[in-house]
Amino acid sequence: MHTRYLATAGMLALTLLVGFSACINPREGYAPEQPVKFSHHVHVGKNEIQCTYCHVGVTEGPKATIPGADTCMNCHSLIQGNQGPDKLPDQQRALYKNEISKVRQAWKNGEPIKWVKVHDMPDHVQFSHQPHITAGVGCESCHGNIPKSTMKEGPGVVDRVGLEVPFNMGWCVNCHRQPQYNAPVDCATCHY
Ligand code: HEC
Ligand code: HEC
Ligand code: HEC
Ligand code: HEC
Ligand code: HEC
Repeated sequence: MHTRYLATAGMLALTLLVGFSACINPREGYAPEQPVKFSHHVHVGKNEIQCTYCHVGVTEGPKATIPGADTCMNCHSLIQGNQGPDKLPDQQRALYKNEISKVRQAWKNGEPIKWVKVHDMPDHVQFSHQPHITAGVGCESCHGNIPKSTMKEGPGVVDRVGLEVPFNMGWCVNCHRQPQYNAPVDCATCHY
């Protein structure tokens, strides 16, 4: 009786766990708020900084990597607010100053900025950027139009990165099947 109860409770816990992880697994449309309101539109769109200036790992291995505050300070030791030729409205200037000061503070205190992960594959999936970049698949095929990401710049708001693709197994496999790519689709390509 006792063991049967435990077994049932165990099954229930497992079912809940599987069900729950499916629910909290971030999917299309997920665009969390970040600890610093970092705008790709400002950096890539307006100031034409290359993706690889910040995401240095992308051509070499699995991870694209997010830059540390040191990289930010290459510019933000000098740029402390909106000082570009196009003077922005007051509300936007206040936002720039406030957000940049968080970066300078983090650097000063030697604390990492706790970016919230947007694109996150489960551990049982083998993904690497490198073969994709080598095959000429552009960032936008998998991440959408990052310089004009999900949320647009407006008064007191800057654009924010979000999941713009389904980001599940079907999505990976469907692209691998495209005749122009003809990439492998056997299970061991992505699971081992
Ligand atoms: C000046 C530095 C910088 C440049 C240039 C830059 N990024 Fe980023 N990127 C960041 C930072 C910081 C984050 C983490 C905060 C966020 O998600 O907005 C990030 C986040 C991302 C993410 C989401 C990461 C996640 O958690 O899933 C993607 C995708 C991305 N960048 C792609 C690009 C692409 C594509 C380009 C070029 C078109 C680019 N980035 C250019 C700094 C940069
Ligand atoms: C190559 C130079 C460069 C680097 C590196 C750089 N920035 Fe910037 N950043 C700029 C410029 C230029 C502006 C716009 C200033 C203006 O409009 O006058 C800016 C603006 C900003 C702003 C205000 C606009 C916005 O995005 O909300 C924030 C916040 C910011 N940067 C954060 C970061 C962070 C975090 C990093 C590191 C991950 C970083 N920057 C790296 C050049 C850089
Ligand atoms: C074939 C699809 C694909 C392409 C092309 C691609 N990415 Fe990704 N990207 C992913 C996946 C999948 C993840 C999540 C990886 C994980 O969770 O292990 C990711 C994660 C990221 C992250 C989060 C940090 C990290 O390293 O996991 C950044 C930043 C990023 N990509 C930037 C880029 C940039 C910049 C390019 C173009 C130079 C690019 N990606 C091209 C699929 C792609
Ligand atoms: C936009 C199309 C596209 C998407 C989306 C895509 N891939 Fe790929 N993938 C490719 C191409 C093209 C190659 C390179 C094939 C080659 O080198 O012949 C590749 C290669 C790979 C490889 C290396 C295969 C090998 O052995 O050479 C792995 C692993 C992989 N992809 C996993 C994934 C995973 C996991 C996802 C989903 C998270 C994914 N891919 C999404 C197009 C894509
Ligand atoms: C091109 C990459 C790719 C290939 C090939 C691939 N998978 Fe997957 N698989 C994934 C990704 C990505 C996920 C994670 C999906 C998610 O979290 O929604 C996944 C998830 C799974 C899961 C977990 C179930 C779930 O919904 O999370 C199983 C089981 C699985 N795959 C089995 C297989 C089998 C069997 C094959 C061969 C017939 C295969 N996969 C081929 C990328 C791939």
